[in-house]
Amino acid sequence: METKILGNAESVSKQNNVLVIKTKESEARIWIYSPTIIRVNISKVHSADTSFAVIQKPAEKLEYSESTNELLINTGSLKLSISKSPLRFSFYTTDNKVLSEDDARFGTNWQGTKVVNYRKLYKDEKFIGLGEKTGDLNRRGSSYINWNSDVPDHTPKSDPLYETFPFFVGLHNGLTYGLFFDNTHKSYFDFGASTDDTMSWFGADAGDMNYYFFGAQSVSKIIEDYTWLTGRMQMPPLWSLGYQQCRWSYMSAEEVLNIAETFHKEKIPADVIYCDIDYMDHYKIFTWNKTTFANPKAFIDQLKSMNFHLVTIVDPGIKVEPGYKQYDEGVAKNYFATYPNGEKYVGSVWPGRCHFPDFFRDDVRKWWGASFTALTEPGVEGFWNDMNEPAAWGQNIPSIVKFGDYYMPEVRNVYGMEMARATFEGTKKLLGNKRPFVLTRAAYSGTQRYSAVWTGDNSAYDAHMLLGQRLVNSLGITGMSLVGVDIGGFTGDPTPELMVRWNSLGVYTPMFRNHAMQGTKYREPWRWGKENEAIIKKDIEQRYKLLPYIYSGYYQSHQTGLPLSRTLAINYTQDTSVFNTKYQNQFLFGDALLVAPVESTRFTEDVYLPAGEWYRLSNGEKFTGSKAVHVEAPLNNLPVFVKAGGIIPMQNVIQSTNEKGDGILELNVWYGKEANSFVYYEDDGSSYNYENGEYYKREIYFDPAKSTISLSAVEGSFTSKYNKIKLVMHGFKGNIKTFKVNGKAVKIWPDAEHGTDYSLIDNNSKPIIIIY
Ligand code: GLC
Repeated sequence: METKILGNAESVSKQNNVLVIKTKESEARIWIYSPTIIRVNISKVHSADTSFAVIQKPAEKLEYSESTNELLINTGSLKLSISKSPLRFSFYTTDNKVLSEDDARFGTNWQGTKVVNYRKLYKDEKFIGLGEKTGDLNRRGSSYINWNSDVPDHTPKSDPLYETFPFFVGLHNGLTYGLFFDNTHKSYFDFGASTDDTMSWFGADAGDMNYYFFGAQSVSKIIEDYTWLTGRMQMPPLWSLGYQQCRWSYMSAEEVLNIAETFHKEKIPADVIYCDIDYMDHYKIFTWNKTTFANPKAFIDQLKSMNFHLVTIVDPGIKVEPGYKQYDEGVAKNYFATYPNGEKYVGSVWPGRCHFPDFFRDDVRKWWGASFTALTEPGVEGFWNDMNEPAAWGQNIPSIVKFGDYYMPEVRNVYGMEMARATFEGTKKLLGNKRPFVLTRAAYSGTQRYSAVWTGDNSAYDAHMLLGQRLVNSLGITGMSLVGVDIGGFTGDPTPELMVRWNSLGVYTPMFRNHAMQGTKYREPWRWGKENEAIIKKDIEQRYKLLPYIYSGYYQSHQTGLPLSRTLAINYTQDTSVFNTKYQNQFLFGDALLVAPVESTRFTEDVYLPAGEWYRLSNGEKFTGSKAVHVEAPLNNLPVFVKAGGIIPMQNVIQSTNEKGDGILELNVWYGKEANSFVYYEDDGSSYNYENGEYYKREIYFDPAKSTISLSAVEGSFTSKYNKIKLVMHGFKGNIKTFKVNGKAVKIWPDAEHGTDYSLIDNNSKPIIIIY
């Protein structure tokens, strides 16, 4: 194997907005994408410059200065110093603090076709990110491989899993930076795992050393920049944020309806029910089993009349069977992956021998998208994309298989994303102005533009529950906000305690889905005895109460890329305790809530509360942060805390997001010494009209110095579904004098329950009841 280390710059030129540096063996190109984002591409071949992830173009201008030994780019927010001999790249803040730099000896190099970048490792350097990766929050000392794989029996340590997000954030000396290695080949990340703490490195089997460096000085701004570059999620359908019940499989329409009816009978709120692979005719995608799902439209109409939305699974494998529509069409048009001689690749999955659509082609994506009429016409609105690593029994899809112009190893990591894209674009068209819900198992950076993800086939034990939370939190760093885990564990049977505990964590999981494997015990909320059912029900009710807060949280993801579930490392980056393995699973759910996952066998827990003051959500007990507290954690009371100053809009319990509720938006504010604000957002929850200004947005401010809580004027043309706002103040002890609506001060009075009743009409003609 030939090893080549990037050598000296032989020529430097600027071509429009790109700086081009030639060495004997390669060409390096540098672009500025924004003041905090610089792209470096080092290539031995002048390959086509395409990206599946990036949706932005570089800035039109690039300026640099040159001295004998150095080239310098200063964006005003980030500096890149390039040493010419040998060619090495070092990034600095504008006040000359080094953020990250090539290892001076080896920098970028080629080991055969493999391209690798060795970087200097700083003494206190920590790493977070990489999306769906097992292990600890701080990835220092670990190494990872990106190779999307179907891993049904994975453990809390397995690697790789199903998804590839080659983006991490480095933290050292109080500084932050991000790095996105946009190379879709099998890739490797090593955060000082076996370099005697001298180097970190990343690389890929082939392709370019192609990375985007992020220099913003906060993790949240780095996430904002990364999601600016790779896109942000659209507003999800509100129904997808309710409780979701799944199973492999409910075997007939009758069984699905029975489950839906039982939710109603038990008065347990729910919105979504799934059909796993058995709804199909012999697992043929875009078909229905003629016996067990004989009349899909009538069945779905019935579900809809019970306020349930149906999600059905689709796998990429198209059964080899002449006479089957998708097979015939795909063969006629050459839509399937082939060997280089044009022979169609055959791999076996659920239906038996299958061909695999070439989702890298526009015409194939359109054809796939249009095929969903078989599902959308009877009324399906959610589309679950599975087995798209792509999975084939035995896993070893030969490297010589071609997808369009690409060989499998080059694009395997993107296959799932392109399938989700085809599904999203196709169903969006078919559903008219309605938002489809798309869920995918395999993904690559940028998938947030099309789909939610879940973390695959987990297992019914505590360590998997905790791992699931870390995966959700880590996926949040890489732009995926709408993320779920199989609550209860896919394989195995949870104990009743684990089921109850996991469900209580599900309330604070972005996508709240209960799912289980065939052959396991049934998992629905009423299968666990009356006492447990009552706890599960109460927790699901809590999810529904929080929906106004959760929906506003997704608006934040849509606007800034900040995820709903946030590792504490995002907001409390410099607090080393948040990386302590004992507390590393804790997270913020939205701006105001801190959640501490607890194993099902523990009924008290040490919770680390970062700086500031905190209230236990369940009883208002107040704590001072920057320390661990030991708290009660019975199965019916997961430790959840509200940050002092926290603002949480809530609603009354409804049985489904289709219900309007009592029309009261309950604005909860917890007293704190620092001012705070919250952006409340609402729209119709189902259409794209919000893109044309049909939304209802207002900012809520709390200012203890002025003893004021205020609501801004409403922005947008949507009429809120709430016709009353009820203000609920926690821990104020008389510490508030003024409530302002649209700038107009209103004195605060107690309500009937506490004394005198008071209400007023704001400028938007909304009566407001004030509670002290
Ligand atoms: C895969 C999925 C799982 C699904 C099963 C059957 O294992 O990960 O969620 O239930 O296939 O379709």
